[in-house]
Amino acid sequence: MSGPVERVFDAAADAAPEIRGGLPERRAKAESENESGEVQLEADVWADDLLFDRIADIEGVNWYASEEREDVLTVGDADDGYAVALDPLDGSSNVKSNNPCGTVVGVYDQPLPAPGSSLVAAGFVLYGPTTTMVVARDGEATEYLVEADGRTDLGPVELPEEPTVYGFGGRVPDWTEAFEAFVRDVEDDLKLRYGGAMIADVNQVLVYGGAFGYPGLRSAPEGKLRAHFESMPVAYVVECAGGASSDGSGSLLDLDPDSVHERTPTFVGHRSVMDDLEAALSD
Ligand code: AHG
Ligand code: MN
Ligand code: MN
Repeated sequence: MSGPVERVFDAAADAAPEIRGGLPERRAKAESENESGEVQLEADVWADDLLFDRIADIEGVNWYASEEREDVLTVGDADDGYAVALDPLDGSSNVKSNNPCGTVVGVYDQPLPAPGSSLVAAGFVLYGPTTTMVVARDGEATEYLVEADGRTDLGPVELPEEPTVYGFGGRVPDWTEAFEAFVRDVEDDLKLRYGGAMIADVNQVLVYGGAFGYPGLRSAPEGKLRAHFESMPVAYVVECAGGASSDGSGSLLDLDPDSVHERTPTFVGHRSVMDDLEAALSD
């Protein structure tokens, strides 16, 4: 028996080979901006439409929201269904340079905007040298290999014991003094690996251990990443994989955003690094 939540991830896995296959011919810019004021690639809009077609019809899914759409769409008629929030193509600026990108999926059991505590499952697809999907639910995260004829269970995902890599976004002169001081300590122990696609950077934290983050900047105190579509879903995945998350003062899953496109400083990874971050930012 598969319920609506399983069917959402089945739909994302089914769409993945098609999304990957459609990227080579969609490297141009579309003539539009998204709600966050960013120029959309044709690939962003196309991936959003494709996922909407696959997910909106699932019984039990009542609301569909995406980084690429202004409003939350009501797609079901039950009052107590799930809300699916998507970043259809994360790291889409990597399409042009042929670097990895991803799809992020959050399933909330409340209408949006909704608190992080209402996430019942989250996951992502990573379009890298292979296509993989990580799905987190009920305190566990599982990785799958995604191919045209279906997905193969690769087993549980757990952060390794020791942190190894880090990657933090934003221009260094735009970082706050406290954050820069924290990073100077991190780089004594960990190795920089930053690729410009949150999903790829988070996945290497899951595999090698460490931390990924996009801080609040002097020019943009809330940073760049969007709570419903990016930050809270990856926090859910990383916490299920034995790691931690932070907005600089506490878990991202404790957030209760006021609007659907709200941004937040975003950090995920080893508990020890999150603790050091929170200590540094509270000074
Ligand atoms: P998106 O392509 O969905 O807008 O997300 C881009 C995000 C995220 O993937 C990444 O961590 C960050 O933007 C990279 O930003 P910079 O190019 O500023 O490093
Ligand atoms: Mn993104
Ligand atoms: Mn995106």
